Order: sequence, then C-alpha cells, then structure tokens
Amino acid sequence: MRTLTLLFFSIFLFQNCSKPKATVFEDKRLAQEEVVKLCFIGDLGKDSPHQQIMADALGREECHRIFFLGDLVYPKGISSVDDPEFEKKFLDYYKPLLDQDPDLIIPLVLGNHDHKKDPSAWKDVSKRYEGFFFPNYYYMIDYGGLCLVALDTSFYYYTEKVLEATEQASWLFQLQSRLKDCEVKVAVTHHPLKGNGYDKTDDWEGASGPLKAFLETYIIGKFDIHVAGHVHVLVDDGRDEKTRMLISGAGGENRSGGRSGFVVLRWEPHNPKRIGYSLRYIDTEVNVFDESQSESEYARQEQVSSEQEEHIIYKDRVEPWWPAKLFRSLVDKLKN
Ligand SMILES: [Fe+2]
Repeated sequence: MRTLTLLFFSIFLFQNCSKPKATVFEDKRLAQEEVVKLCFIGDLGKDSPHQQIMADALGREECHRIFFLGDLVYPKGISSVDDPEFEKKFLDYYKPLLDQDPDLIIPLVLGNHDHKKDPSAWKDVSKRYEGFFFPNYYYMIDYGGLCLVALDTSFYYYTEKVLEATEQASWLFQLQSRLKDCEVKVAVTHHPLKGNGYDKTDDWEGASGPLKAFLETYIIGKFDIHVAGHVHVLVDDGRDEKTRMLISGAGGENRSGGRSGFVVLRWEPHNPKRIGYSLRYIDTEVNVFDESQSESEYARQEQVSSEQEEHIIYKDRVEPWWPAKLFRSLVDKLKN
C-alpha cells in the first residue's frame, strides 16, 4: 500500500498554537534504491494532445515520484472530487500512471488556477486516490536526507489570503531546525521567482509584492534547488544565491516556442550530499532528448554537487537560518 510507505509522524511545531499543525513525512523506502529519480511538471489540465504526450513520456521515465507543480485543472480548478473537470482534464491523463506502477506516488502542490473553485477538493482527491498525495497545502517529505518542501505560493499571489500566507510562513520558519538534518533541500512551488520573458503571450514579469518577498525570504539562498511552474516552459532559470531555479510548467502546453518536457532530479542515497538535475525534453513525435547524452547532465551533477558543498555551512551557523526580522517584515508586507 502506498500509504504505508509514508511513515507519518506529525510534528506539532507550534507549541502555543492550535494551528497550523506542520506535516512532515518520512519516506525512507527510497533510501534503499541505488538511484532515486524524482520528476517535476506543472500546468497540466488543458485536456490537450500536448498533455497526453507529456503524460505518456512521464510513464516511460519510470520516476519514483512525480511532483505536480500546480494549475492542475484549467481554468478554475475543481469544485469537488466529483467535478467532471477533474476526470476529464486530470484523472484520465494521470490515473493510468498509477495503474501502471503500483509504487508510484504523485505529490501535488496547487497553483493559482486551483484556487478559483475549491482548493480543499484536492484533499478529497488524495483520500479517494491514494497515489495522489496531498495532505495539506504545504508539507515536507524526507526521503532519507533528500528533503522536499512543498508550498502554496498562491497565498502570496492572491494578497487577500493573509491568514494562510502568515500561517504557512510561520510553519516554514519553524521547520528550519528540522531542515538542518537534510543533506539536500528542494523547494517545490507553483510560482517561480523569475521566469519572465520566456512566454511571449503572457505578461508575467516575475514575482512581485508579497510573493517576491516570500520567495526571496524563504526559498532563494535557503534551498539547493527550487522547482516551479506557472510559466508554460521548461527552462533552467539559472542560479541565484546558491539556489538553482528550474521552471517546469509545460505539462499542458508550451508557449515559449521551445521544447517541452519535465525536470528530473537524480539522487544517490549512498552519496547524499550530491544531487543531479536535468531537463528532459520531449518533442511532438515523442522522441526523448536526454541532456546526459551530451554529457551536460554529468556536468550539472558536478555543478550542483559543488554548490551543495557551500550549503553545508548552514549546518554550522549559530544564528537563525531565517532571521526573525525577515519573517516580521514579510508579515508587515502582507498586512499592508
Ligand atoms: Fe499559474
């Protein structure tokens, strides 16, 4: 049973608050693997031939886990697990992946479109279909040294969600002591910090306001890798303050004119400080372009590995990882 692979231990990080209850999961079964392969793709539910091509390619990739990066169903998300849009634009495409591989788990994060109807419906999806993992809008999974933190950036994109935004930021702030045990830290969100300029049909100019403040305060410079969607492209958006920023938002369409596909992270549990990433390009004739064929994946593994060496210094720092004043300034921005 998939659920049994996730040894749940709830950490109540807020001793003085009734909520939020932080959700931290350990999935140590993957630590037995030679190589762990995690895949990432967002901006899915278009009900398009493109979406099917990407879904089929994911099925061939044999990922241990596939993280969906939000905007799961266009244009307004779903009203309930029985919403016809859910079956038509999501389930029909991705349930076959779960049927094909009984060990596969697909963790979800939500995007801005998923907040238009009822975002809590995705919790019911997770209960009905155990392969789709969505215990909360934000959560952490520790694969035995590789830690994935999934967050909902729409709380900062839609500025009226002040309560949710503050609660999530508080949870993440408190999580820092747990994250110090992680060899590699990956943040998974819907919105990227940058990503502007790739989509000529959209006016996305990068994160701004509270969203920019949140990403700059909590993600950039604090995680080794940040994987996001929202922009309908597959790109390596560079490195900023020790954080490699990847955008994988071409699950339902591609609006860059470039190649589509998804992000693949490769992690070896016996060599836990090292992680490799690649952009797996899929063309419309469903040929797979693997960047490792040109040795670039190996080069990038080395690159990220050396970056990880720099991140180790965080473990030895005495001062708070996220200075409390940054949290207070973020809350002030949310209130204003
Ligand atoms: Fe989006």
